[in-house]
Amino acid sequence: MRLIVFDNQKDIANFGADMIAEVINNNPCAVLGLATGSTPVPMYAELVRRYEAGELDFSTVRSVNLDEYYPLAPDNDQSYRYFMNHQLFDHINIDKNNTNVPDGLAADPAAACAAYEEIIRDLGGIDIQVLGIGGNGHIGFNEPAEALDPLTHLTDLTEDTIRANARFFESEADVPRHALTMGIGTILSARRILLIATGEAKAKAIATVLSGKLTTSCPASLLNLHSDVTILCDRAAVSLCDPSLLATL
Ligand code: PGA
Repeated sequence: MRLIVFDNQKDIANFGADMIAEVINNNPCAVLGLATGSTPVPMYAELVRRYEAGELDFSTVRSVNLDEYYPLAPDNDQSYRYFMNHQLFDHINIDKNNTNVPDGLAADPAAACAAYEEIIRDLGGIDIQVLGIGGNGHIGFNEPAEALDPLTHLTDLTEDTIRANARFFESEADVPRHALTMGIGTILSARRILLIATGEAKAKAIATVLSGKLTTSCPASLLNLHSDVTILCDRAAVSLCDPSLLATL
């Protein structure tokens, strides 16, 4: 696990965009695993800037997103499909037919989840998976629990997550109570993982991840099983880490 601590968001966005650009430049048909939430927004803006500057070409890039609220229509302005279109896809030359987000209106969610796994398999797997992290240690919507699902599945959101995400909705009551999310195994099958964490609210979860111990009460800790994880943090996000551990990373 590689940890890099930055002084500001701009440097995080640049470094993250460098990693994604490297993947695309090595393979113009790369499969990007993408995440929503406020954390990756500056990095997406930097990718858009590079596209506009003629530095990046997304014309043959494919993408799969981590998760989607359920039930929620793709054109609902709170959906993750809407977020991806507005933050990234509408501003670059990616073919939207090559972008995948779980179907928030699936009549049969179990079948939709199995189909999503098949999409990822048919694409040849994920070259780089971008992740944020919840204050409770979730990745995607894999919430802390006694047991974690390996593959894409329908899940209930925890009260913590509903409260944390209410800032994007008019009221807490409007936050969907369920989501379709890649499972921990789906995430770990990505060839590279790029996790970004900023702010004090993520400090406890990041400290748990960096302790190196595995616990389902912090799903992100399972990333310690992967051999190619890069974590980009600001100083606030590492403020609860054991300094002697930080020195060894
Ligand atoms: P955030 O969400 O980027 O909006 O903090 C991250 C997450 O909950 O995974």
